Formats: sequence, structure tokens, C-alpha cells
Amino acid sequence: MASLICKYSSCNAIILTLLLLTPFPSHSADPDPLQDFCVADLASNIVLNGFPCKPATNVTSEDFFFDGLVQEGDTNNTFGSQPTLGNVLAFPGLNTQGISMNRVDFAPGGLNPPHSHPRATESGVVIQGKLLVGFITTGNVFHSKILGPGQMFVIPRGLVHFQMNVGEQKALIVTAFNSQLPGAVIAPSTLFAATPAVPDYVLSKAFQVGSEVIDQIKSKFAA
Ligand code: GLV
Ligand code: MN
Repeated sequence: MASLICKYSSCNAIILTLLLLTPFPSHSADPDPLQDFCVADLASNIVLNGFPCKPATNVTSEDFFFDGLVQEGDTNNTFGSQPTLGNVLAFPGLNTQGISMNRVDFAPGGLNPPHSHPRATESGVVIQGKLLVGFITTGNVFHSKILGPGQMFVIPRGLVHFQMNVGEQKALIVTAFNSQLPGAVIAPSTLFAATPAVPDYVLSKAFQVGSEVIDQIKSKFAA
């Protein structure tokens, strides 16, 4: 085909033109914004993909700043960890910007349990402490490393991952996402604390254990 076309004019010009006409793929997780900002009107009852903008005349500087990640999270819970979410629901100024951040606090031995984000890649930096950070690929390969302050990690979009405090002291990470609302599928609670419950016979078969084991696990996550 190319050799046929090249008979009639310069190959370089044709290849360049074809490249320019080929739409470039988008690699962003969320759609691009169509205006400078669109501070979310979370109270609106208009239903769309994202949130409608509050009127520009009501927007103030305060809409672009957020102090929700200042406070240390309470890690006095089953897992000994606490994510504090800085997504569009907490910080409406993020609406349409395609990004968000969390802080995650860990008690010594605390675990941010295996989970995945269906709508975003995650990157993070350790601010304090020593953490084992790991994820599992779709090919079932486990990648992990122990990180300290200033060290970063990346979790490819949608993959199951965790962080565990393996130091003696408290630990803190800050994470960032290429989505205003990455979502989180938390493996233990998704499987063992869904409403209505996933039937025992499904979980028994999946994990190859008796229903008494399933009930025992379910009881740990009962609300
Ligand atoms: C950590 O994995 C986070 O989701 O903030
Ligand atoms: Mn995560």
C-alpha cells in the first residue's frame, strides 16, 4: 500500500501526514477539563459523570485549598491504619481536574489491607516510618519493597496492593491518583462484608475451606 502511494509522491510527506491524522490515544484516567475549573456542587441533584459546577460567581479562593489531610488519622482499629481521603467528595475544587490525594497513617504493625483502585494509578511517598509496599500483577507476580522516608512507589491502575508498617514507630504515607475519585475495592470487606452477603458456598468454593471458616472470617468484619 505504502509503496503504491509512494510511486506518486514523497514517502516522508505521506507518512508525516498519516501520523498527524492518527488520533493520539489519551492516557489520562479521568476526562480532560473543558474550562479552568468546575468546583463541584455536591448538593446538586443533576446526575452526570462527575459533578456539576457551582456557579462561578459563588466560587472563592477557599474552594481551591483543603486542610483535610492535616490531621493524623485514628489508627485504633482492626487494621491499625487509617486512610484519610482527599478526593472530590472531600475537596470539591478537584472536580474535573483528574487528580486526588490521600494520607494514610499507620500504627506500628498496621496494615492498609489489600485493595485496588478501579479508576486510577496510585503513586505515593513515605513521609515517616518504614513500610513494606507491595502489589500483585494480573500475571500473579508479587512486587514489593521496604521503603523509608522520601522513597516513592507506584501502583499500576487497578492492581491489588497494600502497605504494612514494618518499623517500630508510627508511619505515614501520602498518595496521589490520576482520578478525582479513584474508588477503592477493599478485598477483605468486599468479599466478607458485602450487603447483602456473598453466599458462604461461593466463598467456601473460592477459598477451598468449610463454611465455618467463612463464617468466622465474616464475623470479624460484621458491622
Ligand atoms: C494507599 O494505598 C491509598 O490508597 O491511599
Ligand atoms: Mn491504594
